[in-house]
Amino acid sequence: MRVPIIAGNWKMHKTEQEAFRLASDLKRRLANVEAVKVVICPPFTSLCSAKKAIEDSKLLLGAQNMYWEEEGAYTGEISPPMLLGAGCAYVILGHSERRSYFSETDESVNSKVKSALKFGLSPIICVGEKLEQREANKTEQIVENQVEGAFHDLDAGQAEKTVIAYEPVWAIGTGRTATPQQANEVHLYIKELLSLRFGKSCCEKINVLYGGSVKPENSTELMNMPEIDGALVGGASLDAESFERIVRSAVRS
Ligand code: PGA
Repeated sequence: MRVPIIAGNWKMHKTEQEAFRLASDLKRRLANVEAVKVVICPPFTSLCSAKKAIEDSKLLLGAQNMYWEEEGAYTGEISPPMLLGAGCAYVILGHSERRSYFSETDESVNSKVKSALKFGLSPIICVGEKLEQREANKTEQIVENQVEGAFHDLDAGQAEKTVIAYEPVWAIGTGRTATPQQANEVHLYIKELLSLRFGKSCCEKINVLYGGSVKPENSTELMNMPEIDGALVGGASLDAESFERIVRSAVRS
């Protein structure tokens, strides 16, 4: 069985000092949680202070984006070795906010996924449809295109090191969550696609997380769905108590 992953996407929140405080609080609160992988993803400038705060704990560190080159004249960008140096094990790629505000495409996501894997970072690859696409019954087609795009040219050995986050765009930061059934259906579809492409045993190693207005009030029901292997949490990850409750809701009894 997959170990659930709960990842906190802090987005553009928390200065270095604030990140240290939040990460320290989480370390204390989550010290006795077993069998859930907890990843916090602060902004780049707060990675090092968050890393210091979670030393000697099982909490893991992730970044929210990266560029695919190792180094070079790419003003404003951050490379995979820089993330590794800051202590990251994960990197979120292709988040819908990156796709819509910063022109990320399936091709750029694919280049980043390949580069992350080459350097030993686990990519958390985000996919999800917009409201008008869901209403036009295009959810499966959109998600399929994004999954195919992100996994282009990858083999099973690479694919099994990835994590997918299904985040319907209409549920992100809106307070509107997909119902557990709606989410489960898409998760199942994603797993079928991965199974066809990479084989069942590879697919069984890939966690498919749900994201989009996950809160302590709805997380238990979501985490109890058979195809939901964790959550990517935005707003509710900025509050230590809420995030702790979400993490605890993922502990399988
Ligand atoms: P939200 O964000 O939990 O605030 O909806 C989730 C995400 O964008 O990863």
